[in-house]
Amino acid sequence: MTAPASVSGPAADRVQIFDTTLRDGEQSPGATMTLDEKLSVARLLDEMGVDIIEAGFPIASEGDFEAVSAISGVVRNATVCGLARTGAADIERAAKAVEKAHKNRIHTFIATSPIHMARKLQLEPEAVLEKIHFAVTHARKFVDEVQWSPEDATRSEHDFLVKAVQTAVDAGARVINIPDTVGYTAPEESAALIRLLRERVTGIEDVIFSTHCHNDLGMAVANSLAAVSAGARQVECTINGLGERAGNAALEEIVMAMRVRHDILPWTNGVDTTRIMQASRLVSQITGFPVQYNKAVVGKNAFAHESGIHQDGMLKDTTTYEIMRPEMVGLTESNLVMGKHSGRAAFRAKLKDLGHTVGDNQLNDVFVRFKALADTKKEVYDEDILALMAETGADG
Ligand code: KIV
Ligand code: ZN
Repeated sequence: MTAPASVSGPAADRVQIFDTTLRDGEQSPGATMTLDEKLSVARLLDEMGVDIIEAGFPIASEGDFEAVSAISGVVRNATVCGLARTGAADIERAAKAVEKAHKNRIHTFIATSPIHMARKLQLEPEAVLEKIHFAVTHARKFVDEVQWSPEDATRSEHDFLVKAVQTAVDAGARVINIPDTVGYTAPEESAALIRLLRERVTGIEDVIFSTHCHNDLGMAVANSLAAVSAGARQVECTINGLGERAGNAALEEIVMAMRVRHDILPWTNGVDTTRIMQASRLVSQITGFPVQYNKAVVGKNAFAHESGIHQDGMLKDTTTYEIMRPEMVGLTESNLVMGKHSGRAAFRAKLKDLGHTVGDNQLNDVFVRFKALADTKKEVYDEDILALMAETGADG
């Protein structure tokens, strides 16, 4: 078998970022958003340079339809996309919802794995192929860009998956998205699947392959990047990795991985990374889903350091313990957290920040008191340190 053609053309290294926070993200139990909340997320995604915003599943409810339609009216740069199953009613509802958008797309899907076809859809494979042909052909009547997804692609039989993708391509799908619906794949397999499709499906010169990974085994970001290494040029992801069950690939991790490790992940994207913290906080605040403290890129501790050795290194050169600058994601500075693991150097620097320059004797005295206090608390705040200084009678 010959190797797949390398992705070529003027934008060969450009990866489209397809955000599905408002569709797959909102499908997480408890993450429902109001129309106004969805509009504020969509505006921010648009401003930060996301290429495609999947705004919802218009047939799912009147509210979803209204939201996709309203978002289509306010988004200025990104393509607005609506999800649809294969029936005419779904597709026409999605078409109506995105009609105001200056660039629009319908994303239609049907499952292709044996378990989904037999047990959920209760359809023979031939009938699934007919539905794919109908859905893509019908969607093409309303929008220029039709995206098609074989749901549960990573558990589909390869020969049938090739036939299904070929059917969608022949019917005019411009984007073929390969979902790892249940978060089952692993990086090498994810890359191999994209490679296999690019080798075996014909007429794909103008087709973009896309990856859509769920995080059930914690590999969504790694699987997405592996798919890109095999030629996928669209990544579907969500802010904070919000999404069904364990979530989707996290946008902030995909984008920062490409930025920080551009040497080995040599692709570009259009996202302004300095808006990442803002987006993370907005989505967390709207959904009420807290961001875990140690979440990559956007967690409270992602740029925080408590141990004495790390704080000492950070004070000398931040690149000792940080691989990206906090400003890159929209934070102003790293956070040297004062706690029981903190050392003298960081404590002296903190006192200086608080307006106290102390000699060695006084530093020793306050540092002993600080350590005693730190043993009783998770974090020692600036106010605690100022109180200690007041107790020692220091005036700065
Ligand atoms: O995970 C999935 O399979 C999906 C499809 C609708 C693309 O979200
Ligand atoms: Zn999904």
